[in-house]
Amino acid sequence: MTDTLTAPPARTQVAPRHLTGPQDLDHPLIARLLERAAIFESGSGDPDRLRRRLLATIFYEPSTRTRLSFEAAMLRLGGQVLGAESAGTTSSAVKGESLEDAIRVISGYADAIVLRHPEVGAAQRAAHVADVPVISAGDGPGQHPTQALLDLYTIRKELGRLDHLRVGLAGDLRNGRTARSLADLLSRFAGNELVLIAPPGLRMGEDVLRSVGPQLRVTETTDLAEAAPTLDVLYQTRIQAERFESAAEYERYRGVYVVGPELMRRLPGHAILMHPLPRAGEIDPQVDADPRAAYFRQARNGLWVRMAVLEWAMAG
Ligand code: CP
Repeated sequence: MTDTLTAPPARTQVAPRHLTGPQDLDHPLIARLLERAAIFESGSGDPDRLRRRLLATIFYEPSTRTRLSFEAAMLRLGGQVLGAESAGTTSSAVKGESLEDAIRVISGYADAIVLRHPEVGAAQRAAHVADVPVISAGDGPGQHPTQALLDLYTIRKELGRLDHLRVGLAGDLRNGRTARSLADLLSRFAGNELVLIAPPGLRMGEDVLRSVGPQLRVTETTDLAEAAPTLDVLYQTRIQAERFESAAEYERYRGVYVVGPELMRRLPGHAILMHPLPRAGEIDPQVDADPRAAYFRQARNGLWVRMAVLEWAMAG
């Protein structure tokens, strides 16, 4: 007999486990997902955990890491994948179909949906109408919760802890959903300090500053070189060209912070340099050989973390 999907498992009546933003992640769940990710990385997770399950990956915005690591995670767990990788131009969205209608339909085909969409709140809208788990793969300049989880996993693996860290978030903090989600998750651990490094026009949104509240000590600066020697983690981000009103506005900020060998000399020896990728000039490739450059290891960690997320969402 082949391992087909002809007889999918019957759906239970329990509420689906959605992951649409940091609000869906409490401390015990974060701990559990990081622990399971480590088990998958060690090679001791069950490779058939999601056998006969089907994941839909619906991407209305471009992606390399998030889509392919989710798809790799599903396949490595014994499941199968159906995908719409350019849903904004090749799905019936082009004919005017609403996100809600599309999700209702896809819910009938797949056992879980990974969704990337350009509108803030899209994953929550999808979760509202889906009867299978919806996992956000990023909603415009809103949130990117699984990126933040893999960022935590990377920090813990590289530095051995998630508390009492001084983390610098640099670049386009207004539009960067990865920085916004990471700030939120870092506030769940004791004693962390955030240094927000951005030009005045690209400051972190007040909504995030309010949500991280008094648990996270926050300082703001425009000076990356001055902040660098004080940090345990420098989290560099891309200026998000696609979110600006005009090319001229983007050009005003392009290249505002570039991490090169000189900046790396200012970063402490124990610190790490992270970036969610893709990069677009804000880290000089000369830095790649520095052992503190953790961004490609970080991208690889996405696989283990997304295996853990899929297992939690689909297999309990
Ligand atoms: N970090 C990240 O979300 O990368 P992709 O846009 O390639 O998925």
